[in-house]
Amino acid sequence: MPTLNEIRSAFLDFFERNDHRVVESSPLVPRNDPTLMFTNSGMVQFKNCFTGVEHRDYTRAVTSQKCVRAGGKHNDLDNVGYTARHHTFFEMLGNFSFGDYFKEQAIPYAWDLLTRDFGIDRSKLLVTVYHTDDEAAAIWKKYAGLPDERIIRIATDDNFWSMGPTGPCGPCTEIFYDHGPDIWGGPPGSADEDGDRFIEIWNLVFMQNERFDDGSMRPLDMQSIDTGMGLERIGALLQGKHDNYDTDLMRSLIEASAHATSADPDGPGAVHHRVIADHLRSTSFLIADGVMPSNEGRGYVLRRIMRRAMRHAHMLGARDPLMHRLVPALVSQMGQAFPELGRAQALITETLRLEETRFRQTLERGLRLLEDELGHLPKGAALPGAAAFRLYDTFGFPLDLTQDALREQGRGVDLDGFETAMAEQKAKARAAWAGTGETADQQIWFDIAETHGATEFLGYETERAEGRIVALVTDGAEAAQARAGERVQIVLNQTPFYAESGGQVGDTGVIETESGRARVSDCRKLSGVFVHMAEVETGEIRAGAAARLVVDHDRRSAIRANHSATHLLHEALRRALGPHVAQRGSLNAPDRLRFDFSHAAALGRDELARVEAEVNAFIRGNTPVETRIMTPDDARAIGAQALFGEKYGDEVRVVSMGRLEGSGKGADGATYSIELCGGTHVRRTGDIGTFAVIGEGASSAGVRRIEALTGAAAFDYLGARSAGLAAVAGELKTRAEDVPDRVRALIEERRALAGEVAQLRRELAMAGGSAGQAGPAPREVGGVAFLSQVLTGVQGRDLPPLIDAHKARMGSGAILLIADTGGKVAVAAGVTADLEGRVSAVDLVRAAVPALGGKGGGGRPDMAQGGGSDIGGAEAAITAAEAVLAS
Ligand code: ALA
Repeated sequence: MPTLNEIRSAFLDFFERNDHRVVESSPLVPRNDPTLMFTNSGMVQFKNCFTGVEHRDYTRAVTSQKCVRAGGKHNDLDNVGYTARHHTFFEMLGNFSFGDYFKEQAIPYAWDLLTRDFGIDRSKLLVTVYHTDDEAAAIWKKYAGLPDERIIRIATDDNFWSMGPTGPCGPCTEIFYDHGPDIWGGPPGSADEDGDRFIEIWNLVFMQNERFDDGSMRPLDMQSIDTGMGLERIGALLQGKHDNYDTDLMRSLIEASAHATSADPDGPGAVHHRVIADHLRSTSFLIADGVMPSNEGRGYVLRRIMRRAMRHAHMLGARDPLMHRLVPALVSQMGQAFPELGRAQALITETLRLEETRFRQTLERGLRLLEDELGHLPKGAALPGAAAFRLYDTFGFPLDLTQDALREQGRGVDLDGFETAMAEQKAKARAAWAGTGETADQQIWFDIAETHGATEFLGYETERAEGRIVALVTDGAEAAQARAGERVQIVLNQTPFYAESGGQVGDTGVIETESGRARVSDCRKLSGVFVHMAEVETGEIRAGAAARLVVDHDRRSAIRANHSATHLLHEALRRALGPHVAQRGSLNAPDRLRFDFSHAAALGRDELARVEAEVNAFIRGNTPVETRIMTPDDARAIGAQALFGEKYGDEVRVVSMGRLEGSGKGADGATYSIELCGGTHVRRTGDIGTFAVIGEGASSAGVRRIEALTGAAAFDYLGARSAGLAAVAGELKTRAEDVPDRVRALIEERRALAGEVAQLRRELAMAGGSAGQAGPAPREVGGVAFLSQVLTGVQGRDLPPLIDAHKARMGSGAILLIADTGGKVAVAAGVTADLEGRVSAVDLVRAAVPALGGKGGGGRPDMAQGGGSDIGGAEAAITAAEAVLAS
């Protein structure tokens, strides 16, 4: 009996032998569809290949695609556990042709695989075709030899497959297996078709049309094939079972659940085990593909599935968290085919445990409340909406959990009452909002958030995605469209654009629709919606349109590197300076990072160099950067750095990076940096490239600021510094490593030379050898020997020693020296001691200064100094001094 893993391989091998490329399953969160919540069939990743918008280097492909049908259009959640063939998670086996083969080949492939490779009894097979598709009917008849009564023509949409209201579509043919007359049910198209006797196993779609927004349908340029066969169904058939949950894979999960709860897998709790087995798969695969439990969008669907599973675990008597203990069983079954499951095993385990631990208390209290309520109700009566709402609002019971619990008693929920209670709560929220003092222009974002819900952020996983424009705002009001040249704020149901927060700047990029293109210059989060600040570049952008969103990749990569480097820097600083270091602010821009932290003193050069080296060592360590969701308390308990004074919600995102065996933190004691952070980060620390500090200084009292670069910017910076050093070494005709010694020697030499030059200048001036206009010989003015001299090449500070030297030589007299110091003029006067009382040096300087364009001047009667700016007045200055002597 082949296992499900063997059947999957056999399917892929068959088509690989027939020249199909084996393509990996795409993630459960579709990147290329704005309306789809989860990937729900194999063709989703190829949507644009059918329409010809995208070309790949193959025209035939085969996949085993992970699918989730919970939330959104295809929702099987309610039936899981109670039926033989409903799952929230399943694998769709499919072969695809993009303009390569068509019906004439697709039908023979399917027939051969089923009847030859899989050995299915051909007499048990029958097919349906679209009522007008004579061609397909003819191929079935000719190739498979099916008689007419086993080729059933169906006129409804059951045999015309579309992925949604728009997109590629076409007629299809479905292959059914007849489980025999012992089981109730009629063939497709009959009144009893819903019975279990005839089971559809494979759908072959002949993609030949495309449907558009206005409902019109046009033929596609090429004819393609899209097929889908549920692995669990074909598995059941090949294993001789009638129920998908009896296949080896599902059974092993059910047994794991039975083992962990000590509850008989086939006893009264069988349905609970089935739900647990199914939900374990969908929750684990969703977490592995980046979905985290939350109260919005995809995260809320995940949370609903998790909580629903927990109630079933509770029903089995499990009082401790159960689901996370089953993860190893799942990984051992499916980890080989889907390696992402093994890679995310720790994250899955931790996320499940956290959710279960948190929900456990309210689950028990909520179930008690539910019992009380039901005790008052007549048999079969619906639960009042207000009670269901209370369970939802206060106890965290998703509506479908309550409905699921009531189903066992044959009761429902009064849905109108539930909606009314929900509307009342929204009205209260609005009233509370109005009282918060937010301004009128913020009202618009509140309204948009209330109408359309919060924007779902896809940017942790991808930089490109499709979204639907839910609102356009121009000049502060909602608009239906915006034209080329107009500035517009765009809100979408989901986006890969990061909205500025926590120091990380908003993303830039392009939003493109069928009718036009807008450039996004920033993105901000207002009232929970991501507001893309944009300008329409070409055509026009319309509300309601589907849009392709592309974040500027290089810019985002640089921001990511800077943000991750900031975390490493923070930790390196704490380790170097002490635990008082706490973040006070940060900026993670594309071109640089800035980190402000509490620390009193400037960092020494060695300290800074050590910090820089440590950050670079962890970059070279190239370990993965991990993200988890936790309660703030759990996060602190494992040593996560939180921002002081920051308010955190019930759940926080925790980003860990770097390995430090033995002296790290975290549950394993080996993690270097753990921080609460909502930003985007590199996948591995090595992606940061290089880290270079470019500045350290004070930001405010007790707060230091470090500025740094990473990646190419750091490399360029270090390169420019190194080139500068090489140029200096070249000029000095020495090696770069000898430059500091050479420069020190040069400075020393220069200092000695400067001293010598000053001495020589003084000597020269004394000898009258300078370019003075007046000679050094004194002359007689007012009965006093007066020596005046205009000097160049000497500084103001050289004048007093010169005056002393003149005094000594003259014995008795007055001296006035004027020096042109290059742009400025210095003046000094001296009077020998014997003339004190008769002439004051201060008077001489004060008389001379105005002619030199200066003011004031002062000193002692025997020596005074002043300054000016105009050497052209030197003669007049001397004359003015002479006038003082003569008076
Ligand atoms: N896309 C087709 C389906 O989902 C094959 O049934």
